[in-house]
Amino acid sequence: MGIKPVSEKIDLDGQLIIGGKKVTDLVDEFGTPLYILDQDTVEKNCQDYLQALSKNYPKSLVVFAGKACLNVGLLNILADQGLGVDVVSGGELFTALRSKMNPLNIIFHGNNKSIEELEIAVENNVRIILDNEQELENVKQVTARLGKKARLMIRIKPEIEAHTHEYIKTGQIDSKFGIDKNDLIKIAKLIVSDDKLDFLGIHSHIGSQIFDVNPFEDLASLMIEKVALIKSELGIDVPEINCGGGIGIQYVESDDPPAVSDFVTRLCSKLKAACERENLELPLLMLEPGRSIVGTAGITAYKIGTVKRIENVKNYVFIDGGMADNPRPIMYQAEYTFGLANKADKPTTDTFSIAGKFCESGDILANGISLPDAEVGDVLVVYGTGAYNYSMASNYNRFCRPAMVVVKDGAARYLVKRETFQDLVNLDVV
Ligand SMILES: Cc1ncc(COP(=O)(O)O)c(C=O)c1O
Repeated sequence: MGIKPVSEKIDLDGQLIIGGKKVTDLVDEFGTPLYILDQDTVEKNCQDYLQALSKNYPKSLVVFAGKACLNVGLLNILADQGLGVDVVSGGELFTALRSKMNPLNIIFHGNNKSIEELEIAVENNVRIILDNEQELENVKQVTARLGKKARLMIRIKPEIEAHTHEYIKTGQIDSKFGIDKNDLIKIAKLIVSDDKLDFLGIHSHIGSQIFDVNPFEDLASLMIEKVALIKSELGIDVPEINCGGGIGIQYVESDDPPAVSDFVTRLCSKLKAACERENLELPLLMLEPGRSIVGTAGITAYKIGTVKRIENVKNYVFIDGGMADNPRPIMYQAEYTFGLANKADKPTTDTFSIAGKFCESGDILANGISLPDAEVGDVLVVYGTGAYNYSMASNYNRFCRPAMVVVKDGAARYLVKRETFQDLVNLDVV
């Protein structure tokens, strides 16, 4: 997959080019901090999934995990590629419904969906991933009121260990997401016996930024075991399974994620073998990748405002953003790869700590980063910021959230405009 966008080039003047645009020109036109998304990389990442699935398991749907990065323009690009989207809140659902996404390809997650959110989902025939028994009661209330059927999948906790950060593991028994896998039959029975509910299948997600394919293979076997159990206990075929997302990407040289094609091939061969063993028809397979669709497509560009050298201690580069536009280092000790867009051909000369401008000592994006001679006015770029950066950005310290632009074939356009100071006070009541 690589760390950098596929369209990246360096021109004869040592300027970094993404999507046929000089990064320094993008910065002049759109300001900093700036999220830049390379459409070629997004499309390639989609195609990696789609092609591997068409070879190994054509009866499938790739559903982009919107929590990684969600805006109408990006969803339109993904819809054109043939992807669906999963959403986790009323706001994400609203955004998806504003896009070209077919509502039948929208999937609604969440451990505490409100009645209003469920109503929007049922109204629009969006698949609901049922998280718990109380939610089933809430869905029934909604279907009764609207006189409309709800389309449901049940999320189970697979209890499969995924080797990743504690905060992004989701499949273990004490996870807040999903039902105990031993309660599956009980819940499925309740759904099947209600003619206002369509039982579509089962869902599971083991975590995020996972490099090992083995737990996904275990998940594939478990899902089919559960499909077989439902068939034997309730006498029904399970039309769909959703194995979640979670394949990791490369942020730094030492990261070694599997190729998407290997991941898909191995997962699908487990699924097919298990179905053959159990004498089952292949269900529709859904996958929910987020990070591996947009992560490496994104870079963030900042202007360097100050270089502070503390003799014999460390060098700081101060950038005009930080923890509010990229909270991952402070939340998950996430690591990144850095460069200077206007000195992309220059050798590194020193190591630097990359410090944001937020009023927190912990607002450091990285330490010990080798860069060419960094100076005031240089454009620092951080690679791999397409996923869980804008979507996790905040207005901490009353900063304006940056703009996001998409680049392709020498053209750039906004996906999201930069917030203004006026936006910051718009909801204030005097
Ligand atoms: C239910 C669900 N599906 C899919 C994803 C996407 O994971 P990733 O971005 O690692 O592919 C997540 C993220 O944690 C998730 O919670």
